[in-house]
Amino acid sequence: MNLSSIAKGQPLVIDDLCLSFGGNKVLQDITLTLEPGEISGLIGPNGAGKTSLFNCLTGLYSPQQGKIQFGPTPLNGLAPTQRAALGFSRSFQHVALCPELSAVENVMIGLERQSSAGWLDAFLPLARGRNERLSNRHLALAALGRLGVERVADESPTQLPPGMLRLVEIARAIAGSPRVLLLDEPAAGLNSVETRELSNALKMLRSPSLVLVVVEHDMDLIMEVSSIIHVLNVGRLLASGDPAQIRANPEVVRIYLGDDDD
Ligand SMILES: Nc1ncnc2c1ncn2[C@@H]1O[C@H](COP(=O)(O)OP(=O)(O)OP(=O)(O)O)[C@@H](O)[C@H]1O
Ligand SMILES: [Mg+2]
Repeated sequence: MNLSSIAKGQPLVIDDLCLSFGGNKVLQDITLTLEPGEISGLIGPNGAGKTSLFNCLTGLYSPQQGKIQFGPTPLNGLAPTQRAALGFSRSFQHVALCPELSAVENVMIGLERQSSAGWLDAFLPLARGRNERLSNRHLALAALGRLGVERVADESPTQLPPGMLRLVEIARAIAGSPRVLLLDEPAAGLNSVETRELSNALKMLRSPSLVLVVVEHDMDLIMEVSSIIHVLNVGRLLASGDPAQIRANPEVVRIYLGDDDD
C-alpha cells in the first residue's frame, strides 16, 4: 500500500449485489458507489438491510450475487481480516466493549491489526513490544481526543454512560486510520449534547482518503453530516441524492421520513 494511493483514496463500488437467507431476500440488485472524501448516509426503516450491507462490505456475509470492489481490488472471497488489512473498519449497532479493559485499552484493540511485535511479546515482553504499546496508547488517546472524550481514557466501560461507550467504540474504529469507515447507528444512546459533539466529530473525520458511511435513524444528524444519502427499503435501493433531494423525494417521505407524521 503506497502513500500516494492512501492520499487520494479509492471509491468502494457495489455492483448488483444480492443477499438472501433462505427465502428472505435481504438485499436485491444493490448498485452504488461510495466515494472517498464524502460522508455517505445510509438510511431506511428497520429491517431494510442496512447492517446486512455493512456485513457484506466487511466480509461477514457472502452475497449470492454481485461484486464489491475497493479501487482496483475486488473484495469477493476476501475474509474479514483481509478486508481489515486493506483498511476497512466499523462500529457495531450494539456497543461491544470489553468490560475488563479500560476505555483506552479498548481503543488500542483497534490498532491490533497493525501490531508487529507478534504473539511472542505476550509471553516475553520485549522492548519493541513495549515501544509499540506506548505508541499505540498515544494513537488511542489521539482517537479519543478527536471525539472529545480523552478524559475517560482510564475509566472502565462499566463506569461510563451509554453515550460515552458509543464514542469510545467509534474511537476504536478510527484509531487505525482506516480507509473505509462504516458506522452503524453511531448516535444510538447519545443524548442531544453528545449527538451534537458526534456530528462535529464526524464532519472533522471527513478526509479525501476516507470512504465514510454512516447508518442512522437520527434524521437531523444524517441530514447535517451527509453529502449524499442512499435510502434502502426492504432490501432495495429506493433513492440516492443530496439531503435536499432526499427530503423532497415523495417516495422517501412516504416510506420513512413520513413516519413521524403518522
Ligand atoms: N444472519 C441472518 N440470518 C437471517 N436473516 C438475517 C440475518 N441478518 C439479517 N437478516 C435479515 O435481514 C433483514 C435485514 O436486516 P438488517 O439487520 O440488515 O436491517 P437493518 O436495516 O440494519 O435494520 P435496523 O434499522 O433495525 O438495524 C431482516 O429481515 C433480518 O431478519
Ligand atoms: Mg441495523
